[in-house]
Amino acid sequence: EQVYVGVDLGGTAIKVGLCDAQGKLLQTYEGPTGTEHGADVVLENIAQYVRKLVSESPYTWDQVAGIGAGIAGFMNIPEGFIKLSPNLGWRNVPVKKILEEKLGKNVKIDNDANVAALGEAWSGAGAGIPNVVCYTLGTGVGGGIIVHSSIYQGFNGMAGELGHMTVVPDLEAIECGCGKKGCLETVSSATGIIRMAKEATERGEHTSLALVQNITAKDVFDAAKTGDEVALRIINRAALYLGKSMATISVVLNPQRFIIGGGVSKAGEILFDAIRKYYREFAQETAQEGVDIVPAVLGNDAGVVGAAGLNLFSQNA
Ligand code: BGC
Ligand code: NA
Ligand code: ZN
Repeated sequence: EQVYVGVDLGGTAIKVGLCDAQGKLLQTYEGPTGTEHGADVVLENIAQYVRKLVSESPYTWDQVAGIGAGIAGFMNIPEGFIKLSPNLGWRNVPVKKILEEKLGKNVKIDNDANVAALGEAWSGAGAGIPNVVCYTLGTGVGGGIIVHSSIYQGFNGMAGELGHMTVVPDLEAIECGCGKKGCLETVSSATGIIRMAKEATERGEHTSLALVQNITAKDVFDAAKTGDEVALRIINRAALYLGKSMATISVVLNPQRFIIGGGVSKAGEILFDAIRKYYREFAQETAQEGVDIVPAVLGNDAGVVGAAGLNLFSQNA
């Protein structure tokens, strides 16, 4: 039996997993990323965790048919390097080459959210559906476009960078981590939600969040569930731009399903109801018929499963 290794490189932890050829996750291992020590150390950590994963599993190194890794940032897929990762602080790191040298096996790399989308499409919320668009709402807003089981990269890998869709009107637009203004990520990421909450408390608005130190996105959702109007307004704004962006995507790609994952999606119905409301408001009727907006189901495993899947599915639809 052949198995596939998936690597999910996050800002604080690296998760690695073994999958079978059907996308079933067999075993995982997790360790610290070591971001503060720079790319060399992080890549060495990946190699060590992968070796550990396989040696602690019932499978042999020879049974590993391929390795895949998902990394946050803009990628050059054909040449296997990261062009720019704002969150990791990396620029032009030849990840594929370095990992192949360390591990002696073929390594495929792709964007973290593309890979999570592939995982969901393979064995999660998109299983059996040919055209899906996924959002991952976390520190940033990631995206992945799956067309007939393949990741759609576009001309040079920018397709699916949904967090950098320009959606916020000029007068309200603020600068994004990417350097441009008005990106979806500035309002619909955990970072954006936290910023809006802080702005509200600094303005002295009446909200239970004023009592919270180091506000998290979860604090905002918890406050909203108790009826806090400021929290509700913030979530509504995050949902407004997500719903609008989906309406726009619906006339570009016409996906059958939108899948939303990442930490922020754990807010549940309060967020999904609002996104669906705005999708209905802005999307054409035909783009609503038979189309749904659902939560991701693989949770934290989407990244490793999809990364393992890079060895089985095309990376360019
Ligand atoms: C980056 C994406 C990434 C996303 C989620 C965004 O800021 O541009 O490449 O997929 O964050 O990590
Ligand atoms: Na992406
Ligand atoms: Zn941006």
